[in-house]
Amino acid sequence: MNAFAGRHVLSLNQFDRDDLEFLFDATDEVGRELAKGEVRRDLEGRILMSAFFDKSTRTRLAHETAMLRLGGSVSGFADAAVTRASGRTQESSVDVFRMLALYGDVIVTRHPVTGEPARAAEAIDGALIINAGDGTGEHPTQAMVDLYTIRQRFGRIDGLTIVFVNDLRMRCTRSLLRGLRKYDCQVRCVAARGMDIDPLLRAEVEGAGRTITFHDDLIGVLPEADVVYSSPTVLAELPEDAVPRPAAGELPLGRELLEAVAKDTLAVLHPLPRKEELPADVDDTPYNAYFQQAANGVTLRMALLRLMLGGPSVGDSPTGTART
Ligand code: CP
Repeated sequence: MNAFAGRHVLSLNQFDRDDLEFLFDATDEVGRELAKGEVRRDLEGRILMSAFFDKSTRTRLAHETAMLRLGGSVSGFADAAVTRASGRTQESSVDVFRMLALYGDVIVTRHPVTGEPARAAEAIDGALIINAGDGTGEHPTQAMVDLYTIRQRFGRIDGLTIVFVNDLRMRCTRSLLRGLRKYDCQVRCVAARGMDIDPLLRAEVEGAGRTITFHDDLIGVLPEADVVYSSPTVLAELPEDAVPRPAAGELPLGRELLEAVAKDTLAVLHPLPRKEELPADVDDTPYNAYFQQAANGVTLRMALLRLMLGGPSVGDSPTGTART
């Protein structure tokens, strides 16, 4: 059933595996509608408010595009510098969210402070919040897109070996690990030095009965990988002694390396934006799943917005078959 109706989306931990699979089925349905050019404009009259206190290319535009494709409208801001939250007035975020909740039906927000979307959800009435990335917290809809892209590519998530590389402190990694722990897959981590996953997150994943293994050597684990998930390095946050390994320079995830040791079916995912850790020479190889991943960012958010805003009846049967 539709577990998304009328709910904020703040963390992957809110949703169980059946909920995610339900969303992915609904996303398949949207994909079929888009392919036929027959998208149901279920959200006419509904308004999405963007509240981006931090920069974004994909997340904001994918949500806004999704809403527009469903017949809804979009307002808001892409830069808090144009609002009273900046400058001399320094209006509190929570007051900004209260205002947006008076104007729109769903607020998509990115904020540099971890936990701010959850605090907003506590403070407002009458609108739903989507966490579009909060500090080092979570980026739940990105992880939904990532999981969907894996399922689309392989027809399943169970049984796959997923290798995380580069900066494993990122919120995308946190949300994706929280999603993967609901599936029966192998997780291997090759962190850049000083950029290992949070021990509490590791304990959370292992507490769910999933094993994560840690490795220094990408070449050692690459041959068994079905998916390599790389993420950006936030250079400003690097510890002084950090030597990105294998990302920036030493051993980038380049075409030559992939062709030498990876499975033909390997999928490389990256939430983007990328730098040296993912060279452009991978773009025109079959390993490239990251542009499809970015395109899925619209399709999945169309399904999600429909399920959140469309009322309990919408999405109860995304494939036309009653689900129990
Ligand atoms: N994947 C992602 O969050 O990209 P943006 O920072 O461009 O939104």
